[in-house]
Amino acid sequence: MQALTDLVLDWYLWIKWLHVVSVIAWMAGLLYLPRLYVYHCGVEPGSATSETFKVMERRLLRAIMNPAMVAAWTFGGLLLAVQDWSGGWLKVKIALILALTWHHHLQALWRKDFAADRNVRPARFYRIQNEVPTLLMLAVVLLAVVKPF
Ligand code: HEM
Repeated sequence: MQALTDLVLDWYLWIKWLHVVSVIAWMAGLLYLPRLYVYHCGVEPGSATSETFKVMERRLLRAIMNPAMVAAWTFGGLLLAVQDWSGGWLKVKIALILALTWHHHLQALWRKDFAADRNVRPARFYRIQNEVPTLLMLAVVLLAVVKPF
């Protein structure tokens, strides 16, 4: 354990760089996938456009969002190993990131509905869901940067 904390301290800023870059890729997907679902609601199931949306959604989730989420948790988790836990900001940040991770899983479940042509939710539902990662991101970045408490 001591060896790990020493390693993280030696490489702290490099690990934080990797953390922030992974978070950017993860957030890009979390903000864009529900927007694709909004557009997907407007096309006929089985049409060529619908099939194109399915490919875009699958690739975005599998090739970008899933690996980026794992990387954000891995590098963020390494940073956690050397934090001062006396303030409240980090605990609240972790709670909000768990909510963000839950939203990622919800988005993955909705993708399966579109892939099987069985989505019944209206575009308005996905438009509202699109705001959830936006609001969580605003709060998480505020906590990580300003550390207000
Ligand atoms: C996935 C799980 C995550 C964990 C375990 C985690 C943990 C951490 C830790 C321990 C730090 C170091 C804080 C410091 O050096 O002051 C950090 C930095 C940071 N995190 Fe996260 N984080 C996670 C996800 C996120 C997400 C989703 C965002 C943005 C939406 C984010 C944004 C940031 C930013 C901007 C910093 C740099 C703060 C600074 O240096 O001022 N993190 N994170």
